[in-house]
Amino acid sequence: MAETTKRALITGVAGQDGGHLAKLLHEKGYEVYGTIRGQMEASHPRYRQIKEEMPYINLVMADLLDLAALTRAMQEIKPDEVYNLAAISHVGYSFRDPILTADVTGKGVLHMLEAIRLAGLEKTIRFYQASTSEMYGGLEYNRPETGYTEEAAFHPRSPYGVAKLYGYWITKNYRENYGMYALSGILFNHEGERRGPEFVTRKITQSVARIKLGKQEHIELGNMDAKRDWGYAGDYVEGMWRMLQQDQPNDYVLATGETHSIREFCELAFKEIGVELTWQGSGVDETGVDASTGKTLLKINPEFFRPSEVDLLLGDPTKAETELGWKRAVDFPGLVKLMVEHDLKLEAGQ
Ligand code: GDD
Repeated sequence: MAETTKRALITGVAGQDGGHLAKLLHEKGYEVYGTIRGQMEASHPRYRQIKEEMPYINLVMADLLDLAALTRAMQEIKPDEVYNLAAISHVGYSFRDPILTADVTGKGVLHMLEAIRLAGLEKTIRFYQASTSEMYGGLEYNRPETGYTEEAAFHPRSPYGVAKLYGYWITKNYRENYGMYALSGILFNHEGERRGPEFVTRKITQSVARIKLGKQEHIELGNMDAKRDWGYAGDYVEGMWRMLQQDQPNDYVLATGETHSIREFCELAFKEIGVELTWQGSGVDETGVDASTGKTLLKINPEFFRPSEVDLLLGDPTKAETELGWKRAVDFPGLVKLMVEHDLKLEAGQ
């Protein structure tokens, strides 16, 4: 049932979180606007796909690098809420293209904030910045017993993490300088059926489904021992929205408070297709083997290692739970199951 007629602008609406959030806001009765990059002409398949799946999104051509286009979008739409989700968001890729990552993921946030000021909307817009647990960099630098809170120190380990840290600080800075309602959601990893296959969870569930259907022999992965605090993206966009509904702007961590290794994710995903995965060898020679057939289903490929790694992420969502009444609904086994089931259907063409 529609609760409101507010206008929301989502940058990066073509991404995983953009899709979940657009749907949520539409269901809440918002008029939803979403930016996609200028080169996505109306004939582009992704543009058509979004139009077909979510016809209620008003698509706006605007790149985070283009201050003029962003200012125009603010002036024309006059949104009540802005969710800045657009970014170069792949950590591994950011090592290969650090300058573009700094421009889009870092300076792009400044463009958004300046566009709001140039449009004269800094007193009315509520601004959400998609900050990330990658800013913490790993527990070896700062070991809170029960996970990172909003107060923990930062130590990013990738050009992506460094760029996101700039976005976090400039958002805080505009809040303090200009009294803007601007805040950061510091989100730990969140996955689901909309996740791109360049991220490890979706790569695993897609491959597991393909292996089950005889379309693929094995999967190749990098670091199996990294641990992540993995939640479901559908739960996390609800948290984003709740942050912007508070009387005062404040930064919040969204996380599950649990951490699991890539190895555990693989074991559970294979279990969903009835395979018990056992491990043989070590280091780059380690393999994952089907216990009943002896077939090698998983190999290590050093191509997927990163120059520096965040070994362990664990978040403490107490503040969000207490102040926002937010709590994740989908647990870790539920997340793996949901993703494998989705990919089995997709790969089977259903
Ligand atoms: N992508 C990928 N591909 N990662 C692999 C692979 C592989 O083949 N093999 C092992 N990994 C390991 C990575 O080295 C990393 O330790 C872990 O799997 C997770 O990688 P990603 O799924 O790419 O996510 P991420 O944790 O680096 O970053 C994600 O979460 C952040 C929040 O903490 C992204 O969504 C970021 O945009 C987000 O900010």
